[in-house]
Amino acid sequence: MKTVITYGTFDLFHVGHLKLLERARALGDRLVVGVSTDAFNEGKGKRTAIPYRDRAAIVRAIRFVDEVIPEESWEQKPDDIRRLGVATFVMGDDWRGKFDDLKTLCDVVYLPRTALVSTTSIKEAVALLQQIAKEYTLTFNAPAP
Ligand code: CTP
Repeated sequence: MKTVITYGTFDLFHVGHLKLLERARALGDRLVVGVSTDAFNEGKGKRTAIPYRDRAAIVRAIRFVDEVIPEESWEQKPDDIRRLGVATFVMGDDWRGKFDDLKTLCDVVYLPRTALVSTTSIKEAVALLQQIAKEYTLTFNAPAP
């Protein structure tokens, strides 16, 4: 039984997340996902659109995922790897090199990100649509000259 682990926020779950989880699971027999808690994200200055409970429920429902654990600190990874008997640690390649110190405990693999999609780009698209809707409302609700 080869256990793989990965971590992430998985806010506004999208196809880049799905493909990362599918490829991570294909590297072993069991995939554990550490989903960042709201408190951990706040500590990083990151505010999610979707609360931890719902982000964790979505990730848990993905068929490539066997177990979800909360990610509550930067320091927990070595303990998780030992406790869960992890053989391979996976992250997207935006994190390349950042977790190389874990190589003393298990394999560390950085997978290529899926192009053209991210939580940030979805948030920017929603913000743009909100701005357009606001300007449209202002224009068409303005009193007639
Ligand atoms: N990921 C990916 N391809 C994407 C987006 C994310 O492979 N297009 C991977 C990340 O590299 C990470 C995992 O999915 O290993 C969780 O990423 P997360 O940071 O939650 O999502 P992002 O969309 O990258 O969020 P943000 O825009 O806030 O950075």
